[in-house]
Amino acid sequence: MSSGKRVLLIVGGGIAAYKALELVRLLRKRGISVRAVLTKAGEEFVTPLSLSALTEDKVYTDLFSLTDEAEMGHIQLSRSADLIVVAPATADLLAKMRAGLAGDLASTLLLATDTPVLAAPAMNVRMWTHAATQENVKVLAERGISFIGPDEGDMACGEFGPGRMAEPTAIAEAVAAQLDPAAKPLAGKRAVVTSGPTYEPIDPVRYIANRSSGKQGHAIAAALAAAGAEVTLVTGPTREPDPAGVTVRHIETARQMLAGVEAALPADIAIFAAAVADWRVAEEAPQKLKKNGSREIPALSMTENPDILKTVSGLDGKRPALVIGFAAETENVIPHATEKRARKGCDWIMANDVSPATGTFGGDANTIHLITGDGAEDWPTLTKKEVAVKLAARITEHFTA
Ligand code: CTP
Repeated sequence: MSSGKRVLLIVGGGIAAYKALELVRLLRKRGISVRAVLTKAGEEFVTPLSLSALTEDKVYTDLFSLTDEAEMGHIQLSRSADLIVVAPATADLLAKMRAGLAGDLASTLLLATDTPVLAAPAMNVRMWTHAATQENVKVLAERGISFIGPDEGDMACGEFGPGRMAEPTAIAEAVAAQLDPAAKPLAGKRAVVTSGPTYEPIDPVRYIANRSSGKQGHAIAAALAAAGAEVTLVTGPTREPDPAGVTVRHIETARQMLAGVEAALPADIAIFAAAVADWRVAEEAPQKLKKNGSREIPALSMTENPDILKTVSGLDGKRPALVIGFAAETENVIPHATEKRARKGCDWIMANDVSPATGTFGGDANTIHLITGDGAEDWPTLTKKEVAVKLAARITEHFTA
C-alpha cells in the first residue's frame, strides 16, 4: 500500500502548476502525505497559501530561510520523502537537474537527494521537442529519473503537440505504483494490445485508412505496463508517442498486424483496440496507377482482411486466457455488442457509442459498456486514459477473483 508514504512535490513555474493542486488532493485521498516546494516561477501561477491549505503543511519556497533551516534543513527536507515528484517539470528545471545547478531551493533539493524522482514535464511543444530538452530528458532517464508524459493536445500557448502535463489522475497512479512495487498487480502477466488504424495499400503511393487516433489502445498498453504486465503494442500509424516500458511493433496493414500479434503470443491478455480495415484492395498495383489520358475511372476490387480478434479468440492452445475486443456502435450499442461478443468468440467486449455527436472517434473521452459473460456494466464517461486505468483494474480483479 502507498498509504502512509510521503511525497515531496516540487511545483515549477508553468501554466500547468494549477494541476498540482488537484494532484495534491488525489495523493492525499490515497493516504499519501504531501509536502510542497514552490519555485519562484511557480509562485507566479499558484500561491503558497493554496498549496499549504491542500497539503495542510508549510510550503517551502526559499533556500535561505533561517527558520526553515532551524526547523528542517533542505537536505533533510528531501530525504524525509519516499518519492520526489516534480510537477510541472519545466524545461528550466530539467536543464538545472541535468547540469546539477543548485541556485534555488528546488534545484538544491534535487541535487542533494538520493530519493527517487518522478518528473511530469510541461512546456511549449517547441521547447519540448528542442534537442536541448530531449537530450536533458535522455540523460536524466539514464540516471534513473522516471518520467510521466507529456501528453499531446491543444496547449495553453495556442499550439498543438506534445508538451501538456500528464493528467493529475495519471500522475497519482504513477506515484502510487512507484511508492509500492507490490502495486504492480499484473506483474508476471504478458499482454498484447492492438491500436490505431491500418493502412491498406492501393498502389505504392495510395492507401485506404480510417480516422482512428490510437489514443485508447496506447493508453491501455501504458496502463497495463504501469500495472506490471509485460506488454507488446502492435500499432498502425498514429501520432501517439510510444508508451514507456512497452515493446512497440509498428505495422501498416491488417495482415502485418495479425503477424505482429501472433509473434507476441503466448500471452495471458489480448486486447484489440485497433480499427482494423475490414477489407483491402484485392491486388495492390505494383506501380503507381496513372491517369494516362484514359477516361476510365479504375474500379477497386476488394477482398476481406483477416479478423485478428476472431482468429486469436479461436486459437487452440495459444489462446490468451482473457481476450477483449472493442465494438464501435452508433445505435443499439449493448445488443449489437453482445451479439459481436458471441460472433467473435472473445471474453469481453468494450462497447462504445461512436455516433458523431459523442466525439469519441479521435476525441479524449469514451463512454464504455463492458459486456462480459455476466451481462453489461455501464461505465461513466471517462477520459481514454481513465478508461485504460479502469480496465487494467478490472483485469486485475478478474485474475485475482
Ligand atoms: N477487429 C480485428 N480484425 C479485423 C476487424 C476487427 O481484430 N479485421 C477487431 C477490432 O480491433 C475490434 C473488434 O474486432 O476489437 C471490432 O469488430 P468489428 O467486427 O470490426 O466491429 P466494428 O468495427 O464495430 O464493425 P461492424 O459493426 O461493422 O461489425
